[in-house]
Amino acid sequence: MAGMEYRRLGKSDLKISAIGLGAWQFSEAWGVVEYEKAKQIIAKAYELGINFFDTAMVYGRGLSEEFLGRAIRELGIKRDEIVIATKIPGDFLNRDDVFKATERSLRRLQVDVIDLMQVHWPPAWHNYPTCEYMRALEKLVHLGKIRYIGLSNFAVELMESARQCLSTIDIVSNQVRYNVVERDAEKEIIPYAEKHGIDIIAWSPLAKGAVTGKYTPENLPEFKDVRAGDPLFHPDNFREVWRLVKVLKKVGEKYGKTPAQVALNWIIMASSTVIPIPGAKSPEQVESNAGAVGWRMSFEDWLLIDQVSRSIRITRVTW
Ligand SMILES: NC(=O)c1ccc[n+]([C@@H]2O[C@H](COP(=O)([O-])OP(=O)(O)OC[C@H]3O[C@@H](n4cnc5c(N)ncnc54)[C@H](OP(=O)(O)O)[C@@H]3O)[C@@H](O)[C@H]2O)c1
Repeated sequence: MAGMEYRRLGKSDLKISAIGLGAWQFSEAWGVVEYEKAKQIIAKAYELGINFFDTAMVYGRGLSEEFLGRAIRELGIKRDEIVIATKIPGDFLNRDDVFKATERSLRRLQVDVIDLMQVHWPPAWHNYPTCEYMRALEKLVHLGKIRYIGLSNFAVELMESARQCLSTIDIVSNQVRYNVVERDAEKEIIPYAEKHGIDIIAWSPLAKGAVTGKYTPENLPEFKDVRAGDPLFHPDNFREVWRLVKVLKKVGEKYGKTPAQVALNWIIMASSTVIPIPGAKSPEQVESNAGAVGWRMSFEDWLLIDQVSRSIRITRVTW
């Protein structure tokens, strides 16, 4: 597709678009719970050359996976034209549950094999040994039920211990929060990934909409969705974010691009391991996000954004 860029996912043989589509929006958390609406969004993404779709078992407790699987079928998209990534929650990581959960995911997605199965978050309170679930996932690769294994929200130490459990394969990705205002992944996770040929799938690449320019300190809504109580939108933090949004707007004007497109372009330039997966609530938003690639801002503009971004302070201590 003209304008879309493609790349390999980590050391896999999967060819993916440089921008993916996040499918968390297809759940009550974000509000796209009507199937036809989700289908239009998926259709538009596919039409624009986006072939990388990120969902998870927990998104709408299966709803997002179901919508994605159904839409792919109804739109007549061939299986080998797209890459489906899903995630197994940190709560389902004992050996039996890994198999059972994967079987259900396959059914909801209506596919024979999942391209990328990610561990959604490390198990926090269940005391599952790391090697128990990593080996179960490796078994699923050998059984042909998943193609590649990815992690999500794993710190470097946890990535290392997870990788050590695998005998014949390696992980291909770690999916973490990364956007132009929340850059903690740059400290350790991204350098580690770059060194080891692991890709970073950037979640909340638009800072949940905070850097799109449509929310201003004056018109900040009382969110009824997943953003209610999100520290980014706390007035103290949002005033900081807004300083950067003004710069994103200014840079965007030079290129005929929106702040959202500039924000996505900036993270792609920040590291060649990064693949943003913005979520979209309408075909128009997908179209805008697809327009974040196929061009690059100048080094000077990238640096200006970098510097302003570094000067802003976000605190999670909001109460
Ligand atoms: N692994 C994990 O733990 C994890 C965690 C979070 C997310 N994710 C994944 O990452 C994906 C993206 O992250 P996210 O949903 O948190 O946030 P995001 O992509 O940063 O922001 C998405 C929101 O921004 C707004 N938006 C999107 N495109 C826009 C555009 N072009 N112009 C203006 N507004 C636009 C929409 O909300 P409004 O229109 O309502 O403002 C949309 O719901 C998710 O779908 C999911 O697949 C993974």
